[in-house]
Amino acid sequence: MKHVNFITPWKPFKDFCEFYKNMGSDYKEIVNSSDIDVKSDGVYNKFYTSGGYGYEPVSSRNWLIKNTSIGEGVGHGGTCLDVGSGDGFWTWILSEFYNTTGIEPCAEGVQFSNAIRKRLDPKIRNRTRFIIGDALGVRDGYDFIFCRAPCFLNYPINKPFSKDLLDLDRKKLFGLWRRTYSKEKAQKLIGGYQKKSRVLNFLEYADKANEYFEKMVSIADKYFLFILSTKKAFYGEYLGDTYNHDPQDVYDALKAHGDARVKVVDGYIVAELMKWTTQQSDCALGNVLFSINKQKTNHDYNFCFLDKKNVVYERRPTEGFHAHS
Ligand SMILES: C[S@@+](CC[C@H](N)C(=O)[O-])C[C@H]1O[C@@H](n2cnc3c(N)ncnc32)[C@H](O)[C@@H]1O
Repeated sequence: MKHVNFITPWKPFKDFCEFYKNMGSDYKEIVNSSDIDVKSDGVYNKFYTSGGYGYEPVSSRNWLIKNTSIGEGVGHGGTCLDVGSGDGFWTWILSEFYNTTGIEPCAEGVQFSNAIRKRLDPKIRNRTRFIIGDALGVRDGYDFIFCRAPCFLNYPINKPFSKDLLDLDRKKLFGLWRRTYSKEKAQKLIGGYQKKSRVLNFLEYADKANEYFEKMVSIADKYFLFILSTKKAFYGEYLGDTYNHDPQDVYDALKAHGDARVKVVDGYIVAELMKWTTQQSDCALGNVLFSINKQKTNHDYNFCFLDKKNVVYERRPTEGFHAHS
């Protein structure tokens, strides 16, 4: 597996790290010197304008490179849509490899991203832009669709949503935590748990998660990446505001569209899809004939299928698909 050199990032990254080191004071200064309405209603507005998630740039960048196909150079130089871009943190990181657009419905998040953007290196500035909007309304395609925990993917994508799944009942939640933690730890966790689950704020997405998921896949021309925290002990359940996707469910939803790869790293599901062309998708039904094809070709391939006219397609490592008669 070929990885880009993640020890030496591009030059503007240093600048970006400096900015985040001084984040506390810079954030306040940005808010004070702009007309961002920090008091407006909304779940995320105050949150982003008061410092966001507190990510650390170097480890965040390295994690992405180490654990996703970004590190293998997939789509580098192309276009990327950072869905639910928040205050722009991941957009800056992605701009090293892609011309990146952030889309975010929280207007203050976008205002704030634009204010930060003015302070970053011109190279980062030239490769980023932000739009206020809902991911479902996107009409253009992008080479790469990056979805890191957008709210609409925090619901089951391939089964009906049921409110019973939510961990609103503290007794039930305590029981869930006890499955993996000691009594003391579970008590501590429940003590710090907010009364109102955050997923309740986004119930509008509960029955639409699949629609959003399919939309995201459809606007990805080459590559789709979805990252969200999950824990094996809770697959298929909500816990502490997060729906814990079962990697198998996500794989099943992705596999009809191309080469899917789903894994769990450091408590995050990392779901990737390398899209097939339309022709390849038409042929997908032929996948079951894989073993027959194997006898028909002598090449070193890792995936092969027949289309409806019985043409054998094979994919050789690093080359993509070829018709082979
Ligand atoms: C948990 S935050 C993740 C932010 C960022 N991607 C990250 O990983 O730090 C979820 C984000 O999804 C955004 N979001 C919610 N609904 C959305 C929609 N319909 N389209 C795009 N983004 C959405 C929220 O406003 C919020 O900024």
